This record gives sequence, structure tokens and C-alpha cells, in this order.
Amino acid sequence: MTAQAGASVRALGKVILLGEHAVVHGHPALAGAIDRGVRLTATDGPLRLRIASWGLDVAAGDDHPVARALAAVAAALGVTRGALDGDADLPAAAGLGSSAATTVAVARALAALAGTAPSPDALADAANAGERCFHGNPSGVDVALALRGGLGVYRRGAGLAPLAAAPLPLVVGLSGEPRSTAAMVARVAEALAAAPARAGDQLAALGAAATEGAAIVTSAAPDLARLGALFTAAHRTLAALGVSSPGLDALVEAALGAGALGAKLTGAGGGGAVIALAPGRQDEVLAAWRAAGRVAFPCQVGATP
Ligand code: MEV
Repeated sequence: MTAQAGASVRALGKVILLGEHAVVHGHPALAGAIDRGVRLTATDGPLRLRIASWGLDVAAGDDHPVARALAAVAAALGVTRGALDGDADLPAAAGLGSSAATTVAVARALAALAGTAPSPDALADAANAGERCFHGNPSGVDVALALRGGLGVYRRGAGLAPLAAAPLPLVVGLSGEPRSTAAMVARVAEALAAAPARAGDQLAALGAAATEGAAIVTSAAPDLARLGALFTAAHRTLAALGVSSPGLDALVEAALGAGALGAKLTGAGGGGAVIALAPGRQDEVLAAWRAAGRVAFPCQVGATP
């Protein structure tokens, strides 16, 4: 195939509304793409990835997780060249799917440059090969949403079942604490090993909340008060599993104090992002978070690429 210089692609970030961690252990997660992501342009050259807004500049072969992910995606696609340059309007390493948005954009950009058109499954496999460089046991939910967009219920093995639901407006606040998805996934595995019955019940409750949340967002008159209550209950359960942080707890309490119907950490936790459902009170929640020095923004969950 002929190389296509200057191919430009985009992949979206995501929020998990309900079911993070549970999804790693076979339960459903309710999640949606957000209207922020990673954009890359590919030109011919040695394998390299630059994302200016993250201060990221790595070449395949560097001792850096993103460099290993770049090499893994390229190997999965059977390509050896591609100079990728781009930008992101998604915060990095905050539980908003930045690594999956990156690996999906890398896969799309390399394939476009090579003039090939891999199937969605082949793109997902390549992107997940990159995701495994960030954490060893990804459920695949982040890659599925970065590829497809929209809102859906994801189950390991079954993949993403898209939902016909209107985009859901939320507010996102960042705790600013350093975090590692791999460490948080390992923490839940430790909780399961230490107390299998209790942690198993907690994960099952998180998965059941995802199923109930899916019914709410697809109903003709969504019960947002109930959805908010599910968010806050899920946050407490995730905290009991050991994956919250003082910063995340403070964001949740500030959101509830400012009138949100519910709030929770989203993604792996240990720091990162909180989402709040606050119809008619979004500005108050954003103001409370910003007054505490946190970066915060509104978003639409269910965006399409
Ligand atoms: C994904 O954003 C968060 C976790 O559920 C890990 C995964 O699904 O791979 C914690």
C-alpha cells in the first residue's frame, strides 16, 4: 500500500458513569465517550509520537511507557514507520481515558499513513496491545469507547452494547493527585484476595448499579435523582475498596454541598477525576471546585467521533 502523508485522525476520551473496577472482574460498566480527545497527524518517518499539550515526545525504543505502547500498536498493525504529531484537549492520566484515546489515535494514524483499513476489531486489538503497556489487565472499555464513541454498556468478552440515549451533561473536576491505573487495579485484586466474599459483593453491587443506570439513561423520563444516588453510593463502595483518595473525596463532598444530585470518582481512582450530575447546578459545582483550586469543566457524555 502507498503511504498517505498528512493523514489526520481523532479519538475520544471517556467517563465511566458506573462500574469501573467491577468491569475488570466481568461485571458490566456504563460508560460514554466525552467531547474531548486526542488528535494526531501522521507523516512518513521513524516511529515517533509528539503530543504538544502533554509535553510528550517519545520515539519507539525509548524507555518510556508511551514509547512501549507506540511500538506495541505499530507491531500489532505490522507497520514500522510513522511520525505522529498532535494535540489533546483531554487531561492526561486523570481517569478520562487518555491512554486509550492515544493508542486508538496512534492505531488509526499509523493505519491511515500505511494506506490500510483495518477492521474495528483489528484496530481495537492493536490499541489494546498499547493499553497493556500502561496496565496489564485492561477490560477494554476505554478502547471500545475511544473507537466508537457514544454511550453504552461494556462487558468483558461481550464488548460494547451501544445505548440509544441522549448525551448526558456532567461536570468533571480533577483532584490533581498523581495516580496509576495499574496500582489501583492491583489494589482491588488485593482486596478480593484478602476478603473474597465482601469485595466480590462490592464489585457485584457496582455492576448492578451500572445495569440500573443503563435503564435510567435510556428511559423516556430519566430519574436523574436516582442516577445521582447511584453515583454517590458507587463512590462510597469504591472508597471502601480502597481506590478513592482524600482529594477525590473532597471533590465529591464539595459537589454534593453545591447541590449536585450525585458525584463519584470515575476511572481507576487513587486521584484523577470526579464526575457530578448536577442539572441546573453545574455552575455552582464548577465554582465550588474552582474555589478549592481544582481544574474543572462541563462535558457531554455520549459524544461521537
Ligand atoms: C478503566 O478506565 C478503569 C478500570 O475499570 C480499568 C479497566 O476497565 O481496564 C479501573
